[in-house]
Amino acid sequence: MNDQVKISIRNLYKIFGDTPQAALADVRAGMGKPELLEKRNHVLGLSDINVEIRTGRITVIMGLSGSGKSTLIRHLNRLIEPTAGEVLVDGENILTWDETRLRRLRRETMSMVFQKFALLPHRTVLENAGMALATRGISRKEFEADANRWLDRVGLEGYGGHYPHQLSGGMQQRVGIARALTSNSGIMLMDEAFSALDPLIRTDMQDLLIELQAELHKTIVFITHDLDEALKLADHLVILKDGAVIQQGEPQQILLEPADPYIEDFVSDINRARVLRARSIMEEGPAEGEISGEIDHNDNLESVIAMAEGALDRRYRVMRDGEAVGSLEMPAIMRALVPRQASRKTARN
Ligand SMILES: Nc1ncnc2c1ncn2[C@@H]1O[C@H](COP(=O)(O)OP(=O)(O)OP(=O)(O)O)[C@@H](O)[C@H]1O
Ligand SMILES: [Mg+2]
Repeated sequence: MNDQVKISIRNLYKIFGDTPQAALADVRAGMGKPELLEKRNHVLGLSDINVEIRTGRITVIMGLSGSGKSTLIRHLNRLIEPTAGEVLVDGENILTWDETRLRRLRRETMSMVFQKFALLPHRTVLENAGMALATRGISRKEFEADANRWLDRVGLEGYGGHYPHQLSGGMQQRVGIARALTSNSGIMLMDEAFSALDPLIRTDMQDLLIELQAELHKTIVFITHDLDEALKLADHLVILKDGAVIQQGEPQQILLEPADPYIEDFVSDINRARVLRARSIMEEGPAEGEISGEIDHNDNLESVIAMAEGALDRRYRVMRDGEAVGSLEMPAIMRALVPRQASRKTARN
């Protein structure tokens, strides 16, 4: 993996209403979403968004309904015009592009996976999977092998001749993913792609995405309002509220250091033992003193507690790719299990 920026969102604003430019001045002067609606009758869609989306990583955009997630993702291929700001793809400002270039961006550089699958009902699964290539003028004969390969890969071997209505929701979304993969675009935009699925199917789809990503290293922008899903998938997590980014960063760091009471609330119910990893709370450098054993830097705290069989005097050496990178003591695990908000409340009592 590298650290190249694929898409750069800079000072992006979107205001819905009759005179967005006039309202922009108010927003720049500090007016928030509720006030803008009440006093100016404009909706603040996005406010001063700055996000770098890195090549080969999963960037998750999370927020409650109405926080601006879909508005943001639609700016990335300019399905929505911003009120102000820039979107750079591979360093180029797409706001300067003409329709022809934008069409190519939407068809070839990016693919979208939607919550409602958006399959064509009268086309077969195979034709749906090859849809992006068909719109590029590639014949069925040419795309058939690719489409079949990706259908197989997402677990739909033998379903190419079926129609979408003959498939379950989970299977239909597999077609959606196969379609995005067949299009062979480097960027996948996924707006609540798994939200309509039953919990167990949803977990399967998350696992499938992680597995595919380990192989393909796509640049993925994934939208969700589910924190567990966000924590499971994200390399970089962006949290939106009322159209503004209130925190972004490595998900484990956000859990450990929420920057805002809103996020403290958001993360307070999470199973921290299962989500937090040894690497996030270990002490870096050589382990001193007696060592009870070795753990992997990616082990979650639950597995370390299980290994210690509840004993509090254990200290483990943390390994990454066969190399010692730090140490972890049980008291550090206990501290990490208590969310910041709760520890403050207790301190006040
Ligand atoms: N075309 C539009 N005209 C006016 N307001 C809009 C328009 N599109 C979106 N909005 C407003 O912008 C805000 C953000 O909407 P958006 O659809 O981006 O939210 P979201 O985070 O995707 O929500 P959800 O989780 O429900 O999909 C909302 O307040 C919405 O009412
Ligand atoms: Mg949405």
